[in-house]
Amino acid sequence: MIDLLIMHASELVTCRAGPKGAVGRDLERLNIVTDGAVAIDRGRIVAVDPTRVLRRAYRARRVIDARGRLVSPGLIDPHSHLVYAGSRHHEYESLITGKTTPGRRLGSGIRYTVGMTRRAPVAALRAQARADLDVMLVHGTTTVEAKTGYGLDRSTELRMLRILKSLQHPVEVVATYLGAHVLPAEYRNRRSAYVALVISMLRDARQYAEYCDVCCDPVGFTVEECFRIGREALTLGFRLKVHADQTGPAKGAELAARCGATSADHLDYISARGIRAMARRGTVGVLLPGVTYHMMEMTPMVEGGRLRRASKPFMPLAVRRMIEGGMRLALSADYNPGTSPTQSMQVVMQLAARLYRLSYGEIWLMSTINAAHALDRGRDRGSLEAGKRADLVLWRVPEHGMVINRFGVNLVHTVVKDGRVVVEGGVLSYASRTSSSVPPR
Ligand code: NIG
Ligand code: FE
Repeated sequence: MIDLLIMHASELVTCRAGPKGAVGRDLERLNIVTDGAVAIDRGRIVAVDPTRVLRRAYRARRVIDARGRLVSPGLIDPHSHLVYAGSRHHEYESLITGKTTPGRRLGSGIRYTVGMTRRAPVAALRAQARADLDVMLVHGTTTVEAKTGYGLDRSTELRMLRILKSLQHPVEVVATYLGAHVLPAEYRNRRSAYVALVISMLRDARQYAEYCDVCCDPVGFTVEECFRIGREALTLGFRLKVHADQTGPAKGAELAARCGATSADHLDYISARGIRAMARRGTVGVLLPGVTYHMMEMTPMVEGGRLRRASKPFMPLAVRRMIEGGMRLALSADYNPGTSPTQSMQVVMQLAARLYRLSYGEIWLMSTINAAHALDRGRDRGSLEAGKRADLVLWRVPEHGMVINRFGVNLVHTVVKDGRVVVEGGVLSYASRTSSSVPPR
C-alpha cells in the first residue's frame, strides 16, 4: 500500500536526463510517457510508467485521475531576490516612456530597494516573502533559491538570512548570501572597505546560507574583488554563484568557471572565452528572460525623439551559441522588484520561447532538471524518476507545448510537494501561514 498513485496523465514529461543534466543534443530529447502514472510513497517517487503497468503493481491510499492533464516535475527556480520591501513600478514607467535607458539606473534602483528593506519591520518582510512563495507555489514552483543583497550592512543582511530560514513553507527555499550585490551609497569611494565588510560577514552568513553570490558586473564588483570574496567563501564551505556580465562584459563567466561556481547567471554579455570556460567546467548558465522582457532589452527605444535599437547582444543568438558550445543552461524568474517583478516560472518559460527562440523541450528541461543542477540538487529532484522527491505539477492542459503557447494565465491545477497535495484546483490546499492582511510593498 503506497500513499499516492497518479494515473492516466495524457502526457507525463519526466524531464529525465544524464547525470549532469541536459546538454547539447540532450536538449532535443524530452522524455514523454503517454497515459502515464506515478507511484509515490513517503514523499518520494517509487515508480514512473504507463498506467497499465502501475495500476496492477500498486494499491494506494489516494488515487488522482489525471485524465486530460499534463504531469511534469515541479518547476525549479534557481535565482530570486525574495526578501525586499517597496515597489519600483515608477522606475519601469520611466523606462517604457523613454525617460531612462535600461542598465543606466540599475544601481540606483537597487539602492532604493536597499533603503526600503533596511527600514522595513521583520514581520512585514517575512509576511511578504511568504505571500510571494504562495504565488510561486500556485504557479507550479516547488523549489526556489533566494538571495540577500538588499541589506548591504551587517544587521540587515543577517536579518534577511534569518527571515529566509524562518519561512516554513512548502516551497523549499535555498538561501544565498549576496553581500556583494552593489556598492552601498555610504561606501562610495571606499570600495575596498566594503569588500572587506562583505568578507567579514561571511562567517555569520554561513550559518544560514548554502551559497555565496557575487555580482561581477559593471553595476557591481570587479573580477578581482569578486575573486577575493569567492575564495574566502569557498574556504568557509559556501558554494558559489555569480551575477555575471548582465549590464556589460565583465569576465564574470570566466570568473565563475575559474572558481568552480555552481552557476553564473544573466550572461547577456558573455564572451566566447566565457562560453568555453563554463562548458569545460560544467558551470550552469542561468538565463533570465523576465529581465530581458522587463528591461526592454530587445525593444527599439526612443531616446531624445529618435528611434534607436538597444545596443545589446541579440539574445537568441547568444543563447544558441551557449547551447552549441556545450553549456548547461537553466531558466529562472529572477523574482525581484526592479528587473523582473514576476514570481511565475510559467511566464518565464513563455518568454524564453518568444525572446530566446528556445524549443518547448529545451524550455522544459531548463526549468526542471537543469534548474535543479543550478542548485546542486540534480540527483534529488528536477525529474520524475524513482527515488527522487515527489514534487509534481498536474496542469489544466493535456500537452507540454500548451503551457508555453498559452500565455499570461495560470495553467496549474494541482501541485504535489514531497508527496503532499499542496495546491488543488489551482488554489492552495495546505494550511497557509500567510496572513490575509499582508502589508503593501
Ligand atoms: O537583475 N546586478 C544585479 N541585478 C539584479 C537586480 C535586482 C534589482 O534590480 O533590484 C538582477 O538580478
Ligand atoms: Fe539577480
